[in-house]
Amino acid sequence: MELTDSFGRIHKDLRISVTDRCNFRCNYCMPEEGLDWTKSSEYLTFDEIARLASIFAERFGFTSIRLTGGEPTLRPKLFHLISQLAELDINLALTTNGSDLVKNAMVYKEAGLDRLNISLDSLNPETFYKLTNRDELERVVDGIKSAKSSNFDSVKINVVIMRGVNDSEVVDFVDFGIEQDVIVRFIEFMPLEAHGIWDEASVYSAKEILSDVSAKYSFDQIDSGSSPSQRFVTNVGSEFGIIPSVTDKFCSSCDRVRLTCDGQIRNCLFASTHLDLRSLIRGGASDEDLIDAISQEVFRKAESHGIGQVNFIRPSKSMSQLGG
Ligand code: 5AD
Ligand code: SF4
Repeated sequence: MELTDSFGRIHKDLRISVTDRCNFRCNYCMPEEGLDWTKSSEYLTFDEIARLASIFAERFGFTSIRLTGGEPTLRPKLFHLISQLAELDINLALTTNGSDLVKNAMVYKEAGLDRLNISLDSLNPETFYKLTNRDELERVVDGIKSAKSSNFDSVKINVVIMRGVNDSEVVDFVDFGIEQDVIVRFIEFMPLEAHGIWDEASVYSAKEILSDVSAKYSFDQIDSGSSPSQRFVTNVGSEFGIIPSVTDKFCSSCDRVRLTCDGQIRNCLFASTHLDLRSLIRGGASDEDLIDAISQEVFRKAESHGIGQVNFIRPSKSMSQLGG
């Protein structure tokens, strides 16, 4: 059975937030003092997550699961969950800020993780500090090297480009991708943050990013299949990507469903409704009950996010709570 919405989009990609805590304080993601974290007693257990994941994989034919946060590596014994999920016939990915990879990249690989995405928004120590309120650039870069030497199917770096903050670093990041042999993906800044610093002027567009790259490299666009990331190959053979989440939104081909750490299904980052699966599970729901409830929640997914339209409502949750 396929999981479709009222616009006929078929869903294949589940993003599971395993905690909303983070050891960084990225200023566009959460307030400096942190948020009111969800208590760990409210988290879905690993067995509950594994039960839901197997419904998505086996009953709805999902092909991809991504673990997110907050910072997912803060969830104790994450490798246990990875090894539980690795038994499913899906591609298993993790999005992390990279701070624990020196220690654990190989542990995750051996537990069965296929792919890693590491968020890194500046290569300049001062800017990195301003953005994250942490002095950990070196640790993250070392983590990227550990990830590279752990033989994942892919290691990608996600860079959110913000005007006046890190927009001077586009070429530095392309160079970094070449040096470290990783794919760098530039993401347009979306209005999902705790400080209200987003405005349309702060969006550094895909077009501007490409124009910066062209100062040093020529490149060709290559096919990106169903991925929202536009892919480019440079004249030196390296690859980089751009996710034009604002100027060329990919809502019409969105195949993602999100599960929060306390067990809510959200059919969109910008969703105004949610489904409380944890209550259903703990109330004794059968797999068929869960399948019905999930199908209904996804069916009512909105057509698109409407950023830039007058009636756009910013989500009351930050990215750290929604999980990327
Ligand atoms: N716009 C775009 N990307 C964002 N991320 C967090 N907040 C935003 C935003 N407002 C990114 C993180 C990370 C991923 C989980 O989402 O930097 O790469
Ligand atoms: Fe943490 Fe990621 Fe949010 Fe930064 S963007 S505070 S690393 S969850």
